[in-house]
Amino acid sequence: MKSKLRCALWIVCLQLFVAAACVAAQGARQIIIDTDPGADDAMAILLALNSPELDVKALTVVAGNVVVDRGVENALKLVSLAHRCDIPVARGAGHPLVATLTTAEFFHGKNGLGDVELPAPACRPDTRFAPDLIIQTVHAHPHEITLVPIGPLTNIALAISKDPSIVPLVKEVVLMGGGISGGNITAAAEANIHNDPEAAHRVFEAGWPLTMVGLNVTEKTLFTPADLKRLAQTRGLENDFAVGVLHFMVNRAENLGGEGTPMHDPLAVGAAIDRSLITTQDMRVDIELRGEYTRGETVADRHNSTDQRVRRGDRYAVEGIQRVEPNVHVAVSSDAPRFIDMFISRIAGK
Ligand code: RIB
Ligand code: CA
Repeated sequence: MKSKLRCALWIVCLQLFVAAACVAAQGARQIIIDTDPGADDAMAILLALNSPELDVKALTVVAGNVVVDRGVENALKLVSLAHRCDIPVARGAGHPLVATLTTAEFFHGKNGLGDVELPAPACRPDTRFAPDLIIQTVHAHPHEITLVPIGPLTNIALAISKDPSIVPLVKEVVLMGGGISGGNITAAAEANIHNDPEAAHRVFEAGWPLTMVGLNVTEKTLFTPADLKRLAQTRGLENDFAVGVLHFMVNRAENLGGEGTPMHDPLAVGAAIDRSLITTQDMRVDIELRGEYTRGETVADRHNSTDQRVRRGDRYAVEGIQRVEPNVHVAVSSDAPRFIDMFISRIAGK
């Protein structure tokens, strides 16, 4: 048993060495994670903080899974756990632009971290408003910053409204949200988009390079009880915390008939680490703002074309096909086993 564990650890070390060598050659990807931590957010943040391919420039917090003050406390606890007080954590929007906030303690625990307690944070919050921190960081690193929103898009929309000049200066946006095969919080809408559809509309219309890691791939990227056993074989403060949170998430998922917990936010970070973990298709995606049953849906045009309808008397007649310009790189598949291996290898023993 011990030799197997030793061998597993050697493989992990070798993978990390190769990853570090690649990063040294290319330079780490500079990211800002906009987050509503959130149990899966916490896993995504730990993955990012333990991946040499990423240089986390800031955590910006938005109301979503939990109220924003709880989110800030959780984000500070996470950077404190990882001894990364150098990373600014800024408080953002406490409510959506128009919609009424819907929190999700049912899925994330009363404290938002799977009811796993962490020590009071050693790190202090940044005094700037999150959208201002986003704007300042993008201007300080033009064409370098990748935005990784993994909560409602309120902060991102506020940043665009306050300073539209950031749009061409952002390298790209890789977000967890939406989907092209139905919703989770409603039949049609995914929670992040549903929580603030007006914000999502601004973000999807901005014109920057946008990759959507939606439910259609994240619900197939499951962390299972067997994965939990693997991660529990190693110890460490971050490792043990992750095991506690994932135990809560896997239990919740199993109680609802699932085979594991979907790694929604971690997969978006995974795609920022290694794009080959997902395959994408360019599509026109619009955000439904009105439908009684569909408000918050990411309506994807798989064909990027619509029928040309012309009024003919008391009817319309289709008289051609009109091309539409895609605005989103939509994730259509993921390499789930390779991603789960990556996640475990980065957290194991930390
Ligand atoms: O629908 C999943 C998304 O909503 C994830 O970001 C999860 O953290 C919640 O915010
Ligand atoms: Ca989230």
